[in-house]
Amino acid sequence: MTELVDFPTSSVPRSPDGLEPIEVASRDEISALQLTRLKWSLRHAYDNVPHYRAAFDERGVHPEDLKDLSDLSLFPFTSKADLRNNYPFGMFAVPQSDVVRVHASSGTTGRPTVVGYTAEDINTWANLVARCLRAGGVRSTDKIHIAYGYGLFTGGLGAHYGAERLGCTVIPVSGGMTERQLQLINDFRPDAIMVTPSYMLTLVDAMERAGIDPRSTSLRTGVFGAEPWTEEMRAELEHKVGIEAVDIYGLSEIIGPGVAQECVETKDGLHVWEDHFYPEIIDPETGEVLPDGSEGELVFTSLTKQALPIVRYRTRDLTTLLPGTARSMRRIRKITGRCDDMIILRGVNLFPTQIEELILGIDTLAPQYQCVLDRPGRLDQLTVRVESRQSLSPQSRADAAQMLAGRIKNRIGVSVVVDVVDPDVIERSPVGKARRLVDLRPKQ
Ligand code: DLL
Repeated sequence: MTELVDFPTSSVPRSPDGLEPIEVASRDEISALQLTRLKWSLRHAYDNVPHYRAAFDERGVHPEDLKDLSDLSLFPFTSKADLRNNYPFGMFAVPQSDVVRVHASSGTTGRPTVVGYTAEDINTWANLVARCLRAGGVRSTDKIHIAYGYGLFTGGLGAHYGAERLGCTVIPVSGGMTERQLQLINDFRPDAIMVTPSYMLTLVDAMERAGIDPRSTSLRTGVFGAEPWTEEMRAELEHKVGIEAVDIYGLSEIIGPGVAQECVETKDGLHVWEDHFYPEIIDPETGEVLPDGSEGELVFTSLTKQALPIVRYRTRDLTTLLPGTARSMRRIRKITGRCDDMIILRGVNLFPTQIEELILGIDTLAPQYQCVLDRPGRLDQLTVRVESRQSLSPQSRADAAQMLAGRIKNRIGVSVVVDVVDPDVIERSPVGKARRLVDLRPKQ
């Protein structure tokens, strides 16, 4: 395997909670490092993965054609389907004996997507998650409760190795068993928690039901991700629990959690760790690369990964690339949704997150909701099922429903049915991601 070229200053010693030099390097330094690494990564993929060799050859491109970062647009995209077609290990670029771990994500249909790591990949991943936690305000002296699911999902183990790397005391709880989570938070007094935002809400609800004031816990920081969540949800969690709530982003195909992270001091979008992942924004329809500042689909190319190099992977996540602020590396705006989560209702495009924002503006409603698409006659109908904070009288329930439907009509421009249900009625995801969109329309 080609030797990796290191960033010259990455060996400079630093305190456990201090920044790495690359986090504050100049744009020129970052681009130079990216170019060196990108050349290596394309060559590594081409030489070792039959899929990439065939895809590059079919396009008539060769790793040597990359002279400049912008030449990446000559190379073909990779999609989830490519990983599925090479199930389980066909996309790996190293012998199986060098793969020390696999993870997998179960998609909505068919075969899971399998990803693999060498020992060096696991090392990189731990460093990056440690970098995320530091940026999010977690310190090496903190105790951290990890409630992302452990197992094939990258959330639990990815968070775990990163928190250990930072030097935290890790409490590896995994997801589910809500009552036990509360007991451990109460008894072990963690400073920080890592969990999906929707499961954090479930924990908060359970605390309230048990007569515990969520603001009275030891928690100071929440590192939330694995699913889209809004600024309104941040305000709700920060206010209710008395914590700093920061966003962590990632996906298995790229490495897992730790691809991008929000800094606690700015909370202005998530810095992409560009020394390991090269981001592009494309038009999801045409595939054309869009300039920074435009909204589109996020695409990543790995720069250092050994076991599973990935070239121009289409994430389906929609966002915008913005310049760096608290760190030099570029930011992505909070993810609004995925191309495949977009609802097109009678010609109007909308995302569940837009509904979430409006729900959080109504006192009697809780942000536990689902958007149910159906086609009772000839037209599509969207029903927003949303929980009330407390059991409501039929009249108050109807008032809240009418208020939400009115705001959706005014702000988004579509008529929807709102069904206000009692607390705890909507299906909860014990480990992972809340299911915000349920499509009951007959298949064409
Ligand atoms: O969800 C990795 C992860 C675990 C990230 C824990 C953060 C925390 P996958 O299961 O492969 O990996 O799902 C990746 O989840 O393409 C997004 O659509 C969504 N997603 C992840 N983080 C965020 C976030 C993990 N912070 C898919 N905001 C991604 C919005 C997110 N969506």
